[in-house]
Amino acid sequence: MYLFRLVYYSRNIVKTLGQPVSSEIKSILNSAAKNNPSLGLTGALIFNDAYFAQVLEGDRKAVTATFCKIAGDPRHSDLVIMKAEPIEQRTFLRWSMAFAGHSDDIDPLYVKYGIAIGFNPAKMTSDNLLGFVTETVARDPNVITSKFDGTADQTQLLDNMIAEAAA
Ligand SMILES: Cc1cc2nc3c(=O)[nH]c(=O)nc-3n(C[C@H](O)[C@H](O)[C@H](O)COP(=O)(O)O)c2cc1C
Repeated sequence: MYLFRLVYYSRNIVKTLGQPVSSEIKSILNSAAKNNPSLGLTGALIFNDAYFAQVLEGDRKAVTATFCKIAGDPRHSDLVIMKAEPIEQRTFLRWSMAFAGHSDDIDPLYVKYGIAIGFNPAKMTSDNLLGFVTETVARDPNVITSKFDGTADQTQLLDNMIAEAAA
């Protein structure tokens, strides 16, 4: 297998679609949890109310096929590919998802990556975007890793993250 990584960002337009934001984010996570493991895909998805940024890792064919499917999703627009490259090893061993909000754990990263007024991948270099996603997932305790399985605890955590993202 050719291990490959793709990093992109997009505009989050979930709230313009008239559905509750939380149910749409849950549905995205459910799709990733359902589909990605059997395809050997790992990665991370990070969001705020304006942007998504996602890292997909795995066999380059599987990464490409899933990216093409994601690219047609009406819940986001204006996708920009930041990296598409072979890698020696995976950065994200489990699927994970984080909210790019402000918290004591994350705030130093905003300073480090020069996005102190808020997460805006359009203003970041590709290396900084990957670094920010990696460090956010590593530091943020409010991260849903591996599968979103709909348990009460995970649902509550996700609802809190979404409420904060919308605030
Ligand atoms: C920002 C974003 C990230 C997504 N990430 C994934 C993903 O990693 N894996 C996946 O299968 N679907 C992902 N989706 C959902 C897909 O676009 C699509 O709705 C889903 O794969 C359909 O799955 P199904 O055919 O099993 O119902 C994502 C959607 C968005 C908007």
